[in-house]
Amino acid sequence: MIAYQSLEDVAAAMRQCRSCGLCTDQTRVVPGEGNARAKVMFIGEAPGFHEDQLGRPFVGAAGEFLEEMLASVNLERKDVFITNMVHARPPGNRDPLPEELDACWPYLAAQIQLLQPKVIVTLGRHSKSKFLPDVGPISIVHGQAFDRPNPATDAPHQWYVALFHPAAGLHKEELKEQIRQDFQVIYKVLAVTQASL
Ligand code: URA
Repeated sequence: MIAYQSLEDVAAAMRQCRSCGLCTDQTRVVPGEGNARAKVMFIGEAPGFHEDQLGRPFVGAAGEFLEEMLASVNLERKDVFITNMVHARPPGNRDPLPEELDACWPYLAAQIQLLQPKVIVTLGRHSKSKFLPDVGPISIVHGQAFDRPNPATDAPHQWYVALFHPAAGLHKEELKEQIRQDFQVIYKVLAVTQASL
């Protein structure tokens, strides 16, 4: 695996990447953004329309909800790092294909290696399946914390929190409330790791 020196180097490599077909339809690569010293890393699925236009993750309606939840645990975007499983928009917002997830993995792995987050928060089923393949479906494990190996760093211990994708709560008030409650687990896990933000 290539050893990148910085998150900017990873983003630059993503912009040159032609490893899968997603680059042909995209407007902008969405490398992920945030604090290079963040203790908490959020990993979503893939850029949507607005993210593709701006080259920034979670800037549409799901992003607004994510920011509201961050505020509920006294965090702002600038405190955390937000990225995705794939960094170019799948046409029509379809699910990323397995080969697209594989092609983008080295970049995500590099971001994790550079950041060394205390907590990885998986948003939705795609990131949960990558990091927590054996814990059960998101409908059961949402809002739970897990100590599992980290496939990016090979560390045997990494804290994860599995959350529903914020977009899932946009049109269902009940689910939105559940996501708000689940979000509080991040705070508890940070306390366990004794991380200060
Ligand atoms: N949904 C995602 O999974 N990621 C984004 O960046 C935006 C919406």
